[in-house]
Amino acid sequence: MNEKILYGYSALFDKPNDVLKAAKSIAEKGFEKYDVNTPYPLHGMNKAMKLKPSKLGYVSLIVGLSGALAAILTMWWMNAVDYPIVYGGKPYFSFPAYIPVVFEVTVLSASIATVLTMLFIFFKFPNNSHPLQGTDYLKQVSSDKYGIIILADDKKFNEEEIESLFKELNAVTISPIYWDNEEINHKHKIFEPKFVIFLIAVAILNSGAVYFVYNKLLYMQPFNWMMNQQRQNVQQKSLIYSDGFGMRKPVEGTIARGHLPYQFVGNPDLAGEKLINPIPVSKASLKLGQEKFDTYCSPCHDYHGTGQSRLRGQFPNPPSLHSDKVRNWSDGRIFAVITEGQNVMPSYSTQLTEDERWAVINYIRVLQRAMNAKESDLK
Ligand code: HEC
Repeated sequence: MNEKILYGYSALFDKPNDVLKAAKSIAEKGFEKYDVNTPYPLHGMNKAMKLKPSKLGYVSLIVGLSGALAAILTMWWMNAVDYPIVYGGKPYFSFPAYIPVVFEVTVLSASIATVLTMLFIFFKFPNNSHPLQGTDYLKQVSSDKYGIIILADDKKFNEEEIESLFKELNAVTISPIYWDNEEINHKHKIFEPKFVIFLIAVAILNSGAVYFVYNKLLYMQPFNWMMNQQRQNVQQKSLIYSDGFGMRKPVEGTIARGHLPYQFVGNPDLAGEKLINPIPVSKASLKLGQEKFDTYCSPCHDYHGTGQSRLRGQFPNPPSLHSDKVRNWSDGRIFAVITEGQNVMPSYSTQLTEDERWAVINYIRVLQRAMNAKESDLK
């Protein structure tokens, strides 16, 4: 194939005003497939060429919003539907915690979509050749000339007419531009094995060099005075104490300030007899009790105390809290169970303060009354 295929007709102008005027009259004549090339952006060119705003923004908007929606749905599905876990009594679907992720995913998807759309749809990647590449025209317009090219596939394309139009518009050079035959018949050069291997080699060399320089050659320990100080780590042996244990227990008989030790260890019935609930029933204490019950007790005892555990058999189901036994227990007796645990149920004395334990008991009483409502309660 030696026949040349015409790509378009190009004209070069000396002055920016000339090319602006030319672009304007070409647009007015109804040409659609033409382009202007200038060494720097010209004010008013968009208007002269009657260019519409780029559609790329819509792609960014739609993909960005879809990314945000996908992030919200994913987190909602994972946290509220598929694997709900109570974190510190917060709701499963807790939007404030999702904002950073939603923001990041929105920005990430919008920017990736923008770049990929630009590359693959607007620039027709992997094609990286263009008939203007290497032409004298392109050299001139990247130096000090202003060019216009009308493409051969424009509906109104006609060589003679365009030539006379360009002359009329004060063009200094007018020349046809042809497709490069070799370029047309060649597969995408970007996939040539030599080039691909070269790219991979550059990537490996670069990352290796960066790794070496930053992690070996120039490595500086950040805050080394903290990293290298003497200290006793958890579970580590100590040379100071004769028993060799690094983790020490408080001296026997230690009593924390403002705290009386529990006096009924191993004797829940006595606790039931002697202890009196000091927390009055109020809206606030019931709310606190409900919060703590839902967080610490409901995984096993269920939100209503029925004993239908959410642990799906991974821990023995507890008995109902609505049995006559528990309903007839005094508050102090239940306090003993929460404080010391009972058989397989562990103690909750480290998770709940004493006041919180009493508030939980008040709330259990509410559940019990609700489940065994009397005629008079309904009035
Ligand atoms: C890890 C699961 C689990 C959690 C969490 C749990 N319990 Fe229990 N609870 C049990 C089991 C199992 C039993 C039955 C123990 C036994 O065999 O005596 C039980 C027994 C009880 C009993 C005695 C019931 C009876 O009939 O003897 C009370 C009262 C009780 N729990 C209250 C609570 C409260 C209040 C909380 C929250 C602070 C709580 N439990 C948290 C598993 C749990």
